[in-house]
Amino acid sequence: MKRTVESGKTLLVDGPASVSVVSGIVEVFGSVLRSVKQVVVRDGKRVPFFVKETAIFGISLGENANVEEIDGDTIPSSWVKAFEELLNPHIRPFTVMVLGTVDSGKTSFCTFLINKLLNERKKVAILDGDVGQSEVGPPCTISYALVTKPVMNLYDLQARNAFFVGSTSPSESVDKMIEGSALLKQKVLADDPDSIIVNTDGWVEGDDAVTYKIQLVERLSPDIVFCMQQKDELASLLDALKKFRKVVVESPVAAKQRSGEKRRSSRELGYMKYLNGAKIRSIPLSWLKIEEDKLIGLCGNRRNIKQTTEIYRLIGMKPLNLAEFRDRIYMVIGKRRWINLDNVKKIEEATKKKVVVIHKGEEEGLLLALYDAEKSFLGIGSLREIDYKRRIMKIYTPVSENISIVAVGRVKLDENLKETTVSTEANQ
Ligand SMILES: Nc1ncnc2c1ncn2[C@@H]1O[C@H](COP(=O)(O)OP(=O)(O)OP(=O)(O)O)[C@@H](O)[C@H]1O
Ligand SMILES: [Mg+2]
Repeated sequence: MKRTVESGKTLLVDGPASVSVVSGIVEVFGSVLRSVKQVVVRDGKRVPFFVKETAIFGISLGENANVEEIDGDTIPSSWVKAFEELLNPHIRPFTVMVLGTVDSGKTSFCTFLINKLLNERKKVAILDGDVGQSEVGPPCTISYALVTKPVMNLYDLQARNAFFVGSTSPSESVDKMIEGSALLKQKVLADDPDSIIVNTDGWVEGDDAVTYKIQLVERLSPDIVFCMQQKDELASLLDALKKFRKVVVESPVAAKQRSGEKRRSSRELGYMKYLNGAKIRSIPLSWLKIEEDKLIGLCGNRRNIKQTTEIYRLIGMKPLNLAEFRDRIYMVIGKRRWINLDNVKKIEEATKKKVVVIHKGEEEGLLLALYDAEKSFLGIGSLREIDYKRRIMKIYTPVSENISIVAVGRVKLDENLKETTVSTEANQ
């Protein structure tokens, strides 16, 4: 359908929808559009098209999509002031961090700052530190990209590098979040940007969240921290951020909230984006270094033969795999094998270690990060099977380079790339 909108008004489009600007001048998150073929508004997302000169839109709406025309601009004046803080800084690169709760508008504000900086011909990098709602890299990763032309959607960017956290929830992986963010900031610096915009996750309320965010801010040492709030959601965080230059910006009234279900389906789009063109690759386990394999129990030390024989005797079978860690023993047994728990207890007593029994098949669907020998991130994959007898790992991935290191995540995907077990986002 075609729709004419007068200057000074905003067309709010809730996806799934596709919008083109046939004529007129329109601004979206700081980027000026003149006759643009297609802006995709994803399901669950809202895009404000502010009309600067009477515009004709071509709109095609998907299921449950919505269009609304309102007076004025939905970009808060504090966003414009915030951008002015970034003009002519004497520090280069200038690092900006954006904090705010879930659905407060963090990603949109980052997009706005990026577009405005691009208008000033700045070289801009975005460091996407939101593992639950990552836009740039795959879900469960922290990533970064260099932005060379205006963007309406950070999702359209391809990650230049990423760090796999392996979970959708920062609260489950605080140390990794901090380590990964600091590491990627180092990598971004090598690209010599004028500005680095750091987006963060929405876990901001409660003592643990505040402690985590302070640690994160301290490690990344931004030159300015923008705190996005509607009322006083960030009060304790603002209080704790004493040492840093911080500016409060408004969370837009027009920002759209999303259900947990919608947040999950938006992550699933992220898996699809990074698993597009995937095939199954079979790789001998002996070629790989496996990290974080608590869910599949592959590495670990071999036990001495006498103890191993004793374990086999106690459980009455030879497991498919047996691996010993500092305080645990992982044992993989056949899909339908049954094990006497009293005997497991006996092993625990004899070894003073906890025994974890894994059934073959439980590994199916685990999200993997794939790295080369230098630990450069190559992409993600989904574990299809571990063939313990032939010592082969079958990975569904579009990565075609040599894989040397595999990190195992806490999320599982089914064959249609839907999340089956989810470490819930802490902030919901
Ligand atoms: N100024 C605005 N006008 C209209 N819609 C907006 C505005 N700012 C944000 N939105 C919309 O509100 C929704 C939430 O914003 P956004 O995704 O930027 O928030 P977020 O804090 O990054 O959320 P998340 O916690 O999911 O990462 C999005 O659909 C976004 O497009
Ligand atoms: Mg976001």
